[in-house]
Amino acid sequence: MRGVTSEIELGPRALVIADLHLDVADPERVEPFARWLDQLGDVTRLVILGDLFDVWVGPAQAREKGAPRVLAALAACTQRGIGIELVPGNRDFLLDRSFAERTGARLHADGFVALCDGRRLLFIHGDTLCTKDVGYVRLRRVLRSRPILWLAPRVPLALGSRVARRLRRESVRALAAKLPDEKSIQRSAVVTAARAARCDTLVCGHAHEFRDERLEGGIRFVVVDAFGGARDAVKVDAKGELTVGESGIGTQSERAQVLLPSAASGPLRLIAIDGPAAAGKSTVARLVAQALGLTFLDTGAMYRAVTWMALERGVDPHDADGCARIARAIKLTFDSTGAIRVDGRPGEPAIRSQAVTDAVSPVSAHPGVRAAIVPLQRIEAEKRGGIVAEGRDIGSVVFPGAGFKFYLDASSAERARRRVNELDQPELYAETLQKIQRRDHDDSTRKDSPLKIADGAIVIQTDGMDARAVAEIMLTRIRSAATAS
Ligand code: DC
Repeated sequence: MRGVTSEIELGPRALVIADLHLDVADPERVEPFARWLDQLGDVTRLVILGDLFDVWVGPAQAREKGAPRVLAALAACTQRGIGIELVPGNRDFLLDRSFAERTGARLHADGFVALCDGRRLLFIHGDTLCTKDVGYVRLRRVLRSRPILWLAPRVPLALGSRVARRLRRESVRALAAKLPDEKSIQRSAVVTAARAARCDTLVCGHAHEFRDERLEGGIRFVVVDAFGGARDAVKVDAKGELTVGESGIGTQSERAQVLLPSAASGPLRLIAIDGPAAAGKSTVARLVAQALGLTFLDTGAMYRAVTWMALERGVDPHDADGCARIARAIKLTFDSTGAIRVDGRPGEPAIRSQAVTDAVSPVSAHPGVRAAIVPLQRIEAEKRGGIVAEGRDIGSVVFPGAGFKFYLDASSAERARRRVNELDQPELYAETLQKIQRRDHDDSTRKDSPLKIADGAIVIQTDGMDARAVAEIMLTRIRSAATAS
């Protein structure tokens, strides 16, 4: 029943996951999760903390092509004795009794308290902890009002899905305009919720980013990574002890390709900056990101990271399969300053070495490498609710629906001059010029996603201008478009 937090004995071996965002319209995207469920063993209970589905508008959703496979895999789990406790999230709060009957899962609209050897742990989705986000709190209340809950399951699937996707687009857009603190989980809300339920631990999802903190009064607060992330599964034993781990669904890039809905990048607040090597894209992108309160994504760093690993492991940069294997296997993350980490190691300064710079063009040209890296870029954008991304194919391939696309150019002589000044090595001018021209040629003539001016991109010729002046031009365009709309 809504408004009542149930209490359950969790049992000896529970596994907690969250935020899978399965798109049931596409059987291929749900298959890996269904297989993961088929192989799930040594677990007595599976706890899913919301947003199992990217959109769930009512029982009719179960007729989508990919739904029967997931529902059957969930039902098979319960038949094997794995109890499923499901806390609906903000995307799938319309999961209802018919879903529970088909799968055997127990639904807990407002979360539940797990009883473990005298301890009490609170499990919720987590959206209710974003208490500063007044707009969202209001929307949530409306969506869960009696009239909507009555109406939603009765609307035809096509209409319901359209409305749900529209709402989702609007909310992502609204989210991008909010300050980070406004839209994030508030620690004070965590403490209040845990105390109200008389729990010493609160576990949730929703934020898509792992956290493990001790709060006021010793309350432990854990956020599970979105499914597919590095810390996306938490085990809970009979005593209520938590062990953080990985679901093991596959490599990061495999998970990204399968689990992330293809439309994810569309509605975001995205600013794409493309252009040739050494055009000053990253300096300008940082300035623009800073001015707009967005984060900056250096996509070149991701291809450099693959190249670094290839060189370190003795893989020839021209070996397409070898490089693609590396791109699929390594784990790329970004720290709070935006610097890349490769399998947990800082990528800087190794990814900027001359050896990496010399080898990165052929590595980034392999379609298998790009197929592994591009979904990660979309995930980063989705996670952060919008970004300023710079690279070669951002406006043309990665985010063709970006709100703003820029193409920064400069003559190769100017770019070589900037680079040697940056390094304070004027004697390397001729060599640098030659390398830049070579990279221009390679990046713009490769078959997969060549460097080009994306449709609708604003081209800025930057010869003789410093980064601030270029950023100012871009910001003026962005602001005037924003106020005009
Ligand atoms: O911007 P950069 O010099 O760090 O990029 C390194 C290489 O990565 C560059 O030669 C082309 C490639 N790259 C790409 O193919 N696509 C991107 N989106 C970004 C970079």
